[in-house]
Amino acid sequence: MPQDVKEQFVIEGMYGSKSLQGAITVAGAKNAVLPAMAASLLSDKQLVLTNVPHIEDVLRMSELLEGLGVTVTRTEDTLTLQASAVRTSHIERESAKRMRSSVFLTGPLLARFQEARFPHPGGCVIGERPIDQFLKGFAQMGATISHEDEWYVVRAKDGLKGATLFFDLVSVSATETFMMAATLARGTTVLENCATEPEVVFLAEVLRRGGAQIYGDGTSTIHIEGGALLSYDEPIPVIPDRIETSSFLLLAALAGTDVVINECNPQHVRIMTQYLESTGVPLEIGGTHIRIVNNTKPNTAFVSARDIRTHEYPGFPTDIQAPLSVFLTQVTGENTVFETIFENRLGYTDDLIKMGADITVWNPQKMMVRGPRKLKGRELMSPDLRAGLAFIMAGVVAEGTSVVGNAYYIDRGYQHIEQRLSALGVQIRRTA
Ligand code: EPU
Repeated sequence: MPQDVKEQFVIEGMYGSKSLQGAITVAGAKNAVLPAMAASLLSDKQLVLTNVPHIEDVLRMSELLEGLGVTVTRTEDTLTLQASAVRTSHIERESAKRMRSSVFLTGPLLARFQEARFPHPGGCVIGERPIDQFLKGFAQMGATISHEDEWYVVRAKDGLKGATLFFDLVSVSATETFMMAATLARGTTVLENCATEPEVVFLAEVLRRGGAQIYGDGTSTIHIEGGALLSYDEPIPVIPDRIETSSFLLLAALAGTDVVINECNPQHVRIMTQYLESTGVPLEIGGTHIRIVNNTKPNTAFVSARDIRTHEYPGFPTDIQAPLSVFLTQVTGENTVFETIFENRLGYTDDLIKMGADITVWNPQKMMVRGPRKLKGRELMSPDLRAGLAFIMAGVVAEGTSVVGNAYYIDRGYQHIEQRLSALGVQIRRTA
C-alpha cells in the first residue's frame, strides 16, 4: 500500500459563506495523458508530452511502461517516452491490478509485438468494469485469446488485421485501445459506436502527429488505415482536464466571490457552464478561461430542480457526478441523479448524509438530492478520486472541521490539490 494512503486533508469549513478569490490553473488531463503514454509503444522514436500533470496515475503508468522496457524521463511538466528497447509484452500483475488504465497497453503491445499477456485490470470501487469489448475486438482483428491461470494471453502470430468493429456499448478505453491497435494493423479498421470524448480526439491527434491515418474521431465512426511504426518530431501538449475544470467551477460557485479558472477549454465543459448558468451562477466565459464573478448571493438563491443523468460526452460526465451532488445539497430544489455509466458510483452518499445532506438513494444508480441543507464537518475516507474531491468540497461548505482520509486517491487525479485550493483561500492542509 502506498505510504501516502495514510495522509489526509484537514479542512476548516466556511459554513456556507463565500470568500474564495483569485486564479486557479487547470492541469493537463489525466484521462488524456494516460492513453497518450501508452501510444509511445507504437513507435521506436521518442514521444515527448508536455503539460503533463503531477499525479499518481502518471507515476503508475510510467512504472508499468518501465516494466515493459520503455524509458520514461520526466522534467518539470515534460515527459519523454522512448520504446525502442521493449523487453516484454507481459504487463506486470501488481500495477495492472492497481490501475484500470493498464488495459490501454494491450492494444499497442499486441499490434507491435504480436502478443500481450495481462491480468484482469483493476480499477476503483465504482463498478465491475469488464473487458469483454477488448477481447471481442482482438478476436475480430485475428488474435487468439487464451487463459493461463489468472492471465489473459492474446496472440496475433501474423500481426493484427484490419476489421470492422461495432462496439456493444460506448467505451472510452475500448475506442482508444482499438485506435492504437489499428494504427499498426494490416489494412483498414472501422470502429463504430465509438466514444467521442475530447480525450479520444486528443489521442487521435497524438497518433496523427506520429504519422497515423485516422479519420472521424469525435464522431461515432472512426476509420484507421494501418501503417508503419509512428515517428514524432514535436512535443505534444496534453489538453486541459475538463473534470478538474468542472470541479473548480462547482467549488467556486459554492464558496467563491471572484474566481478565475485559467488554461481550460470551455468548449469541453459546455454541459456544466450551461447548467450552472441555468441555476443562477454568474459566469464569464472566455477562450481559455472561465470566471465566476460577483458571486455574492447566498447559495440558496441558486435553483436546480431537474433530472440529472450522467451520459457519454458531451453530456454530464460520470466523473463529475459526486462533486455535482455536493452542489445540489447546497442549492434550492429537488433533483434526481441517475448514474448511467457505472453501476456502483453512489457509495459516497452515506458520508454526505452523515454530514447532514438530504439524499434518498433509491437504487445503486439513482437517488434524490434535496437542497439546501447545512452540512457539518466530519471524518471521511475518500473511496475514489472523484468522490474524494467531492468530500473536500463538502468540507469547504460545511460547518467545522472535516478530515478527508486516503489522500492518495485524490492525488491519483489532482495535482497538489491542497496548494492550489489554499491559493484561493480554502483552509486545507495535508497531514500524515
Ligand atoms: N464496459 C464494458 N465492457 C468493456 C468496456 C467497458 O462493459 O469492455 C463498460 C464499463 O464497465 C462502463 C461503461 O462501459 O460501465 C463505460 O466505461 P468506459 O470503458 O467508457 O470507461 P473507461 O474507459 O474504463 C474512462 C475514464 C473514466 C471515466 C469513463 C467514462 C480513463 C483512464 N478513465 O474509463 O475515468 O469515468 O471513461 O467516461 O480514461 C476517472 O477519471 O475517475 C475515471 C473513472
